[in-house]
Amino acid sequence: MKLCMIGTGYVGLVSGVCFSDLGNDVICVDKDINKINSLKKGKIPIYEPGLSELVNKNYKNKKLSFSSDLRTSVKNSDIIFICVGTPTKKGGSSADLNQIYNVAKELSLSINKFKIIITKSTVPVTTGDEIEKILSKKNSKNKFAVISNPEFLREGEAIRDFTYPDRVVIGSNDIKSNKIMKNLYSPLISKGAQYVHTSRRAAELIKYASNAFLATKITFINEIANLCEKTGIDVEDISIGMGLDKRIGSRFLRAGPAYGGSCFPKDTRAIISTADKFKTNLSVIKSVIKSNQNRSSILLKRVHAILKNKVKNKKITFLGVTFKANTDDMRDSSSLIMIPALSKKGALIKYYDPTGFKKDFEKIKNVSYENTIKKSLEGSDLVIIHTEWNDFKSLNFKNMVKGKKFIIYDMRNIYSPSKIKAQGFKYFSIGR
Ligand code: UDX
Repeated sequence: MKLCMIGTGYVGLVSGVCFSDLGNDVICVDKDINKINSLKKGKIPIYEPGLSELVNKNYKNKKLSFSSDLRTSVKNSDIIFICVGTPTKKGGSSADLNQIYNVAKELSLSINKFKIIITKSTVPVTTGDEIEKILSKKNSKNKFAVISNPEFLREGEAIRDFTYPDRVVIGSNDIKSNKIMKNLYSPLISKGAQYVHTSRRAAELIKYASNAFLATKITFINEIANLCEKTGIDVEDISIGMGLDKRIGSRFLRAGPAYGGSCFPKDTRAIISTADKFKTNLSVIKSVIKSNQNRSSILLKRVHAILKNKVKNKKITFLGVTFKANTDDMRDSSSLIMIPALSKKGALIKYYDPTGFKKDFEKIKNVSYENTIKKSLEGSDLVIIHTEWNDFKSLNFKNMVKGKKFIIYDMRNIYSPSKIKAQGFKYFSIGR
């Protein structure tokens, strides 16, 4: 099938290349000409394991191409995926849909034969209805179908998540295009993915409700971890004991720093905003947002307590600063709150991250980047394991830094407390 992905950000690029790998002819479009030229040269703008190899393979065998000419690309395609960003509106909490509607306007001028127009971007309930209205101004209704097909890709695992999804959700009120979509996804359905066909509005809401639920699950275990710390209980035991109940499930039940990333913070805010519009109070999600916002200050208080309230001039090392492992994404990472707050209190901070230097800390006083783990640990008073990269999972701290013993605050519960303590280090973790 001939597909066109509009927007070569995370969603568009990963989905586009994966569709091309399934044998479709895919053209990825972006208005940023520099980005398109770089992609043609094999330069991938994001860090995602396996993506570069897959792009180069499919670009070479001509299943994948790149263009900045939206209209021609759309005219030559049958299925169009809208994959542009839907960030939070400046100064508000609802999703900014400007990019979506601008694309819809462009599309309305490019429909030369029947097209399936799909929103893959995360869009609030009724966005599909609005896109349909825009397209109808210049085209008759039998020339297009507007469908919602939300993505559930995790950064760092995106190719695997695309190839082996738990479910494919198609929100469409049109029988013909539903059949075409089922056919497009048939290689994934035959490998075990559930195909869920719903109304368009339901598909839009499934995405937000899923992300809000996962954010709730994480926040729930984070609060339980707070209680564990006060009662001498190991939160890992609680996660195992709860997770084995099939109704609960063990995934997304790992206590840690505040959740971050490009989706959970933005989508929880946006679903509240949609609910407000429809005069519905989503009180659970509201308190999840509040609890998560408060999470970094709880962890910072613990840092202060660990350092016996003497933070000034203490050398603190952050291992990992991204919001999670296997990504270079800093969006809404809790390190963006914790590092500046500690710097303000006079701490001297070094950080190491496998994805390198971060501009975000460039202007923060007394914060420097080290390009090896070893260098970042040297002279440290407190080492904070912030992100669960594999690189940090089997460090022999004793051999790495001779002499001085630092304190370790493992915010991802990577290490066994007894083993680390046996090496002579003071060790703190989350909820235990
Ligand atoms: C998320 C959704 O999982 C994905 O389906 C959606 O399409 C996009 O948003 P992503 O933002 O890549 O994906 O990250 P995810 O792996 O879900 O983690 C989000 C945050 O939750 C991270 O900060 C992570 O550290 C935290 N988290 C996750 C926990 O603290 N504990 C857990 O058990 C799981």
